[in-house]
Amino acid sequence: MSNKVGIDKIAFYSPDYYIDMVELAHARDTDPNKYTIGLQQDKMSVIPVWEDIVSMGANAALQIIDDKDRESIDQVIFATESSFDYSKSAATYIHNMLGIHSGAKSFEVKQACYAGTAGLMAGFDYVRANQERRVLVVAADIARYGLHTSGEPTQGAGAVAMIISSEPKILSIDAQSFSRTDDQYDFWRPSHSPVALVDGHFSNQLYADSFINVFQQAEEALGTDLNQVKALAFHLPYTKMAKKALTALSDAETKMDEKMRARLIEDWQEQLNAAIVYGKQVGNTYTASLYISLMSLLKESDSLKAGDKIGLFSYGSGSVSELFFGNLVEGYQEQLEKVSGQKDLDERLQISIPDYEKYFGDRDLEYEANIDFEIPTDYVGFYLAKIDEHRRYYDFK
Ligand code: CAA
Repeated sequence: MSNKVGIDKIAFYSPDYYIDMVELAHARDTDPNKYTIGLQQDKMSVIPVWEDIVSMGANAALQIIDDKDRESIDQVIFATESSFDYSKSAATYIHNMLGIHSGAKSFEVKQACYAGTAGLMAGFDYVRANQERRVLVVAADIARYGLHTSGEPTQGAGAVAMIISSEPKILSIDAQSFSRTDDQYDFWRPSHSPVALVDGHFSNQLYADSFINVFQQAEEALGTDLNQVKALAFHLPYTKMAKKALTALSDAETKMDEKMRARLIEDWQEQLNAAIVYGKQVGNTYTASLYISLMSLLKESDSLKAGDKIGLFSYGSGSVSELFFGNLVEGYQEQLEKVSGQKDLDERLQISIPDYEKYFGDRDLEYEANIDFEIPTDYVGFYLAKIDEHRRYYDFK
C-alpha cells in the first residue's frame, strides 16, 4: 500500500482591516525604519470584535471545502494559542459551520506557534493509515502583546485551512522530519492574561538556535540531498526573523562544504523574497504564520516549478520546532489560483491608529456574558453574531 500524503488544498484568511506600520511608528514616536527595515513589516492586520479564531478559520476553510471533503474528512483539528474556552474546542464550531459529517472527530491542539504543524503531522499520520480519508487542519490566531509594548509592531491576525489527502494536489510530504523540544520561557501566555508575555531578544535567539539545531539533524540524515531543497518557508513572527535565521545558519558549524552552504543559503535568501510577501502585510498569525508563508512562496515565486523540493521550518515558543520537506505536485499553481492571495490583501481597508486602538480595546467585550455585535453592512463571510450566557453564536452573510 502506498503511504503517500500531503497538502491537497490550502487557503488563508485575514480580517478586512489593517494599519500602516509607518503610521504606527509615528504614533509611537519611533523611527519608521525600525518597523519597515528593522522588522521588515509594512502593514498589520487588525481584527474587529465581531471576528475571532473560529470565524477566521471558517472563512479560510470555506474557500476550499467541497461536498466530497464534507463526506471524507474524519478529523477537524484546530490549532491555536488564542483559545477563548478551556473546554469546548474551536474545532467543534468549525465542524458544524462547514457541514462536515457527524462521524468525524474534532479537537484543538496547543504548543504556541508550532501547534499548526502538530495538527498537520497528526493529520498526515491518520491519512497514511487511512488512504481514502481526509483531515481538515485549521490554524488561527490573534497575536496580541498590548498597545505601547515592544511586541506591538509584531501583532496581527489570520487563519489558514488545509485539507490533507493521499493524493495531494499541492505538496507531497516526505515521511522524515527533524524536530526539537527545548523547555524555555521565551514567550508565554498564562491562562489569566489576554496578552502574551515575552522575552523578545531571547526569543529571537532561541528561534535561530532551534533552526540551526534541526538543520544539523537534517544534514546528518540527508547529507548532500539537502542541496536539492530549492526554497524554505518559515514561521514569521515578523519577516526579518527568517533572514536572521539564515544569517545565523551561515555563521554556524555544519558539515557541509562551505562554498556549497553559501550557495544554498544565497538561493534560499532569494526565494525568501517570495515567502515573506504576505507576512509583511499581515503580521504575526502565530500558528497560521508558517502556512501563510508557504502560500506566499508558492503563489509569489516565479522560479519554483512542479517537482521542486521545498522545506518548511516551524517554530513555537516554549519551545518546539520542526523542519520538514515536500515536493511540489504537477498543477499546484492551478490548485492555488482559486484561493486567497495578494488580491484579497489589496482589498482590505486601512484604518487609523485611533481606530486600531479602539478595536484592540473592544476585544475585552468578548468576556461579557451577553452581547450582540453590530456588523458592517458590506461584511461578507462568517462572523460572531452574539454571545449569550457566554455561549458564542456565529452567522454567515
Ligand atoms: N532603522 C533600521 N533598523 C532599525 C532601526 C532603524 N532606525 N532601529 C532599530 N532597527 C533594527 C534593529 O537593529 C533590530 O534589527 P536586528 O534584530 O537585525 O538587529 C530590529 O530593528 C529590531 O530592533 P530592536 O531589537 O531594538 O527592537 P525591540 O527591542 O523593540 O524588539 C522584538 C524587537 C524583540 C522583535 C519585539 O518586537 C518582540 O518582542 N516581539 C515579539 C516576540 C517575537 O516576535 N519574537 C520572535 C521569535 S519568537 C517566535 O517566533 C514565536 C512567536 O511567534 C512569538
